[in-house]
Amino acid sequence: MYHPQNQPFPKDFLWGASTSAYQVEGASLEDGKGPSCQDVKQVPAGTSDLKVCADQYHRYKEDIKLMAEMGFKTYRFSIAWSRILPNGTGEINQKGIDYYNNVINECLKYGIEPLVTMFHFDMPAALDERGSWGNPESVKWFVDFAAILFENFGDRVKYWLTINEQNVLTLSGPVIGTLHLPEGCTNVLKEIYQQNHHMLVAQAKAMCLCHEMLPGAKIGPAPNISLVYPASCKPEDILAAQNFNAIRNWLYLDMAVYGIYNAIVWSYLKDHDATPTFAPGDEEAMKNAHPDFIGFNYYNTATVEAADFDALTETADATLGDQQSGRAIPGVFRQIHNPNLPKTQFGWEIDPVGFRATTREMYSRYHLPLLVTENGLGAYDTLTEDGRIHDEYRIKYYQDHIAQIQKSITDGTEFLGYCPWSAVDLISTHEGMVKRYGFIYVDRDEFDLKTLDRFKKDSFYWYKRVIASNGEDLSDLKAEEIYD
Ligand code: BG6
Repeated sequence: MYHPQNQPFPKDFLWGASTSAYQVEGASLEDGKGPSCQDVKQVPAGTSDLKVCADQYHRYKEDIKLMAEMGFKTYRFSIAWSRILPNGTGEINQKGIDYYNNVINECLKYGIEPLVTMFHFDMPAALDERGSWGNPESVKWFVDFAAILFENFGDRVKYWLTINEQNVLTLSGPVIGTLHLPEGCTNVLKEIYQQNHHMLVAQAKAMCLCHEMLPGAKIGPAPNISLVYPASCKPEDILAAQNFNAIRNWLYLDMAVYGIYNAIVWSYLKDHDATPTFAPGDEEAMKNAHPDFIGFNYYNTATVEAADFDALTETADATLGDQQSGRAIPGVFRQIHNPNLPKTQFGWEIDPVGFRATTREMYSRYHLPLLVTENGLGAYDTLTEDGRIHDEYRIKYYQDHIAQIQKSITDGTEFLGYCPWSAVDLISTHEGMVKRYGFIYVDRDEFDLKTLDRFKKDSFYWYKRVIASNGEDLSDLKAEEIYD
């Protein structure tokens, strides 16, 4: 839709950026932190482990000062469950509480609103040993952990996110190192969706608890949502797109917002004898929960065609592919490359217009304000001799995506803020340190920790001006804007 004039960004729009504990903090076993599933997994060949990452645990003051210099209104970070509860349940590690108190206070010192993710891919290893999300007790483990967070940080944290990318945990667990399967599991799909069910219930209960304990706070989910296009206008392709939209996107939001299972997904699970078992009270808990906003990560859309059941049964596997690509389920859909879209150096399609389409669709379905909790470009950045990183490709990516948010605002979508991935360079989920996303460059390589010093990328200066102009000035960076 063409609009003769765009609406401005809301005046209290939350500009910021995101990170997650296991990818940025390092200090993986320091000051009493217990191991998480990320610390004990086998990292993909050729990629760094997660022991040091960007060393934010020791450098949070410097990082937050740089975020303040960019003018951040918010900083989205996650709290490592096993830093607070080394065994996942039981005794609290006071040093963990102290660390996050320090991070929160440091943000507030600069007027930066802390936006806290309660769980970002890092189940305590001790709970993995007890069956992880497959154990029905996991609902209680998570709610107890949530209570500790609300109690200790709720006086200062107003914005909470429950589970980062639950759909990715469910659909791509093996790629990001989170899937835990019990020995001898015969119906993997059933097990995965039972785990998914426990997460949905845990999330619902945590949302209710948040509203009970912290009446002024706001809480929402944070799945990875991206619209699925049909490969053509063939009716069979339209059905395939509806199938994948339901499995990838709407299952998570229908449940978070309305407390109901998406009917298409339910029938798919029924076909595979994989519908989850409800514990007494689950249904009520899910119906009672009401998020205040929808947090969501967006990288790119997907495109699918109809997938003949017989032709695909030999090769397809629903758990293959990563967060953004390479998926097929026999008789349901097959993902294909969209010839209209360019790709990043790491093979992810780039689709800013799809960002607008995704947000319009979400807003029409759920009528809740949207908070973008991730969006960004992973690239090989180069540090020049004079300490610069000329990442004009990242600036271009953000120009295009932020422009589409403004168009979506003009379409009538309500937005709370924009937190791209990532504030600081960190370790990717499965492609190591070389896949950089930050506005702030971290001087280390895949295996050589070097100085870990911070450098401002060109995108740092550009984003600073975007924030200062409240999204009005997205023009290219000028040489005189790069200083110090
Ligand atoms: C999201 C995750 O899937 O995408 C982040 O929430 C992740 O943890 C980000 O880092 C980018 O993905 P990747 O695989 O490039 O690190």
